[in-house]
Amino acid sequence: MRTEQPKMIYLKDYQAPEYLIDETHLTFELFEDHSLVHAQLVMRRNPERGAGLPPLVLDGQQLELLSVTLADQELGADDYQLTENTLTLQPASASFTVDTSVRIHPETNTALEGLYKSGTMFCTQCEAEGFRKITYYLDRPDVMSKFTTTVVAEQHSYPVLLSNGNPIASGPGEDGRHWATWEDPFMKPAYLFALVAGDLWCVEDTFTTMTQRNVALRIYVEPENIDKCQHAMNSLKKSMRWDEEVYGREYDLDIFMIVAVNDFNMGAMENKGLNIFNSSAVLARAETATDAAHQRVEAIVAHEYFHNWSGNRVTCRDWFQLSLKEGFTVFRDAGFSSDMNSATVKRIQDVAYLRTHQFAEDAGPMAHAVRPDSFIEISNFYTLTVYEKGSEVVGMIHTLLGAEGFRKGSDLYFERHDGQAVTCDDFVKAMEDANGVDLTQFKRWYSQAGTPRLAVSESYDAAANTYSLTFRQSCPETPDKVEKLPFVIPVELGLLDSKGNEIALRLSGEASAQGTSRVISVTEAEQTFTFVDIAEHPLPSLLRGFSAPVKLSFPYNRDQLMFLMQHDSDGFNRWDAGQQLSVQVLQELIAQHQKGESLALDPRLISALKTVLSDESLDQAMVAEMLSLPSEAYLTEISEVADVEAIHNAREFARKQLADNLFEALWLRYQANRDLSRHTPYVAEAEHFARRALQNIALSYLMLSGKPEVLAASLEQFETSDNMTERLTALAVLVNSPFEEQKALALASFAEHFKDNPLVMDQWFSVQAGSTLPGGLERVKALMQHKAFNIKNPNKVRALVGAFAGQNLINFHAADGSGYRFLADLVIELNGFNPQIASRQLAPLTRWRKYDSARQALMKGELERILASGQLSSDVYEVVSKSLA
Ligand code: TRP
Ligand code: ZN
Repeated sequence: MRTEQPKMIYLKDYQAPEYLIDETHLTFELFEDHSLVHAQLVMRRNPERGAGLPPLVLDGQQLELLSVTLADQELGADDYQLTENTLTLQPASASFTVDTSVRIHPETNTALEGLYKSGTMFCTQCEAEGFRKITYYLDRPDVMSKFTTTVVAEQHSYPVLLSNGNPIASGPGEDGRHWATWEDPFMKPAYLFALVAGDLWCVEDTFTTMTQRNVALRIYVEPENIDKCQHAMNSLKKSMRWDEEVYGREYDLDIFMIVAVNDFNMGAMENKGLNIFNSSAVLARAETATDAAHQRVEAIVAHEYFHNWSGNRVTCRDWFQLSLKEGFTVFRDAGFSSDMNSATVKRIQDVAYLRTHQFAEDAGPMAHAVRPDSFIEISNFYTLTVYEKGSEVVGMIHTLLGAEGFRKGSDLYFERHDGQAVTCDDFVKAMEDANGVDLTQFKRWYSQAGTPRLAVSESYDAAANTYSLTFRQSCPETPDKVEKLPFVIPVELGLLDSKGNEIALRLSGEASAQGTSRVISVTEAEQTFTFVDIAEHPLPSLLRGFSAPVKLSFPYNRDQLMFLMQHDSDGFNRWDAGQQLSVQVLQELIAQHQKGESLALDPRLISALKTVLSDESLDQAMVAEMLSLPSEAYLTEISEVADVEAIHNAREFARKQLADNLFEALWLRYQANRDLSRHTPYVAEAEHFARRALQNIALSYLMLSGKPEVLAASLEQFETSDNMTERLTALAVLVNSPFEEQKALALASFAEHFKDNPLVMDQWFSVQAGSTLPGGLERVKALMQHKAFNIKNPNKVRALVGAFAGQNLINFHAADGSGYRFLADLVIELNGFNPQIASRQLAPLTRWRKYDSARQALMKGELERILASGQLSSDVYEVVSKSLA
């Protein structure tokens, strides 16, 4: 908790460090009621900063300083200055060592940053600025050092002692203690430091790299989870191979370790050679983890592994450059997931997520550029903008350069900057230099916040056989008030004739046509492209594959959208046409609801989805995606003023109409797929994910009919399926149904069966928190008293409170403000022991400007109450104060 007023830090103030740390030698003595950290830093003046010996200012927080030695001289209290965040020394020569000993308290560290305990195990989380809670240091990513680490702990409780790099020595100590020393040969910033001590078992495997080196692979977990590691291990080996094949990147140490911990603020962390994971991002087996969880494990294992190059070997100069490693690594893991599963479905899911959540962030009070230019608390900037939009920006470079050009650029980037701490500009420069292109204007994507709008209009000249598309781009104002200049917007497009065939694309001035799907770059505020040899008025298919993170609008009518749904050669755009059709139809229902009219669903949506459902040639996962109506959160995001009740009622009405009108087709698909599921052992592969996805969405529609045969089917699926994907959907449809008795029985038997598996209990909490039936808040409050709930565990908070406030909009936005009051109380409580989680849970309240004036006042009132509640962490302070500004 801070006592000083939090202050804003600016990118423009960046200066290279005054001193460097060539070597870092750490010794940890772990005890139950405190731990001791001895650090020896081999330091020198940074030659880049010239001569002279300014004071050395080391970062340090919540450390009890026991001794400090400079150049072998133990210092007295008069020889250094200590503040809450710094230790200042005066070196007398350009090269020197600093030795410190501090006492820290991992056993009471509830913020889960620095060294802390998760259950009985010691572990660390140092990104972004957690290392300063372990020892006095230059805790910034441009200070890179060679680390050796010795861990000393009681042998019986902590048989496994791990740190980064390779194990070089170990042995017994006194009083039942033992020790191990690890050496990491690679220079790294302190945020990549890790230590683990615990009673852990491991699953082992090996990987032979492209140059035939053997790497030992180990996944460490608590003994009861040893049977849930195989999927992560398979994912790791696939990731290692993929990075060799697609990026030419080979692993560089003799050992790669993953440790699963139950208490973790985020998904996982890429510490060099010793990744630490939230157990939810490692553990997966059929009986306990859904298909979505399996895919999430695969993606996060890959993501952290890929950081070994994009993040560790080449790291960030400063935290403003965070997207350098995160945007690029998300782009890399998305490419991996696309190759392992269905590429179109992966793209659909990523875009739906981006449009719903990142677009909302970009339009809210915390909006910031992919490379922010200021922040108060860096932990608040691990955002959808830095990660997901950052990935889109890298993806646009890929689109502009092509796969080969992009690979040349990434090769140059890794070669040129290996071992360095660099900037987003350096990344773009490597792409430019390898391809001989100028990306100056493109770089506005890094510096300008907000989601660009791209309005497109057409004109067809039948006499001249020409077809013109005019693009107008604009970008809304964001809190930084930076004036927006035109972006480079790559638009992949095609033109369809009246039979649904693709037309050859020749731009006026070109000698010949260049394919039927191509990328044009919109670079000006307004720009027209004219296609020639167009024999009939075509229908454009725009922004294929979502080739840029913009809000594109084109005045399609519903028949045209239905035509695209059937004929577009781009799978993503077929889905998107369906979404646009659904949005039009739902917005009409929303308007009817607001006018107090009775609701009438456009039958064209029914027939369009009927066509999709009866098309046996379509990938079943695509069918499932196309059957999914835009979420309430997305409908909120695209509303000028979101009418919570109208959105909910319109969407539920549409779902019920679809269920009634498509009952036969859904029932056939459901039964066929359920039958296969019953007779096929669980396999975590795309075609099986697809079958279960369609089966499950069909069941959730069918259940709206209230028919006894569907209830029976749900109960059968709930009771007899061998995997969590089917079981959890069956539970969810029961929970959202009016069948009180069956619901209660199902919830009770599920909890009894899985009471000892915290990750499964998280799902049990989430399903109930997401139930949109009346009384949602009371149910959530009651569940917070359940013995499996624990407010100190971030996964539990996310499963219950996060699911309620983020997904159960009709209950969270109750007109009396009870949901808001509940969330504010919770944030105030979380702020007291885990600021990062407090700040993240706050997000729904920051969107207050989206709602009607009564709700605005209630939400603002709660933000003001949080602000006035006393000692706010810098995390919560930044989000609340910016939301009220
Ligand atoms: N670098 C991590 C990633 O792979 C993010 C992360 C993990 C993190 N734990 C954190 C960020 C704690 C901030 C605080 O994306
Ligand atoms: Zn990452």
